[in-house]
Amino acid sequence: MSQLIKIEDVYKIYKASVYETKALDGVDLTIDEGEIVVILGPSGSGKTTLLNCISGLDKVTSGKIIYEGKNIAKYSDRKMTKFRKKNLGFIFQTYNLLEHINVYENVLVGASLGKSKANVMEIIKTVDLYRHRKKYMHELSGGEQQRVSIARALSKEPKVMFCDEPTGALDEITGKKVLKTLVEANEKFNTTMIIVTHNPGIALIGDRVIKMNSGQIVEQNINKKRISPLEIPWG
Ligand SMILES: Nc1ncnc2c1ncn2[C@@H]1O[C@H](COP(=O)(O)OP(=O)(O)OP(=O)(O)O)[C@@H](O)[C@H]1O
Ligand SMILES: [Mg+2]
Repeated sequence: MSQLIKIEDVYKIYKASVYETKALDGVDLTIDEGEIVVILGPSGSGKTTLLNCISGLDKVTSGKIIYEGKNIAKYSDRKMTKFRKKNLGFIFQTYNLLEHINVYENVLVGASLGKSKANVMEIIKTVDLYRHRKKYMHELSGGEQQRVSIARALSKEPKVMFCDEPTGALDEITGKKVLKTLVEANEKFNTTMIIVTHNPGIALIGDRVIKMNSGQIVEQNINKKRISPLEIPWG
């Protein structure tokens, strides 16, 4: 696997009126193309901040975020937005789906220009929503809505997919299905996946597991073998 992202000595300091928080305290990390990276750590340890800094949603205080040789930490807002639109996908806990259009149309909204309708339908099948494709969002369960948001993110074929607690609101069965969808997308499209979670069982589905505490990476492990999401312990 070739190296896709290199994070070098990244600090993120939030300054409040009286004291400051070192949300990221000297983070170094490399991520390979096609890798599934799982980030674990207690609440407040800096997981979301790291995800937002790697994806350029947030600006680092110092340090480098290098994608294929280019330091995006130096990009202007405009250049960053363009880079993000072209290369990155996001799955948040809130889905931001459009209520007045159906499943198929919601996925089509995310599709990159020039993407064929057949490709969009293929993605809808990958996330197992084909039979729901004409439904509106209020006619779907939480897990189904989550899968629409995954399909929408996948439909632009991002190089990297950022997932912050993608199963946080889901029960075990639905959560595992959603993870299975992510792994299948990774296998099919070689999408690099960075998944933040509180759930230690999810570490088993990835290639690399990062543990954070107080803004630092305190442990890093490589899994020799990925475990199928359907077979992991939950919680
Ligand atoms: N906008 C902000 N202003 C000030 N402090 C912030 C801001 N965002 C995050 N922090 C602080 O930075 C630290 C890391 O926050 P972060 O959201 O990255 O944690 P997390 O690991 O994602 O936690 P959780 O598991 O609860 O989502 C926390 O101490 C938090 O209070
Ligand atoms: Mg968080």
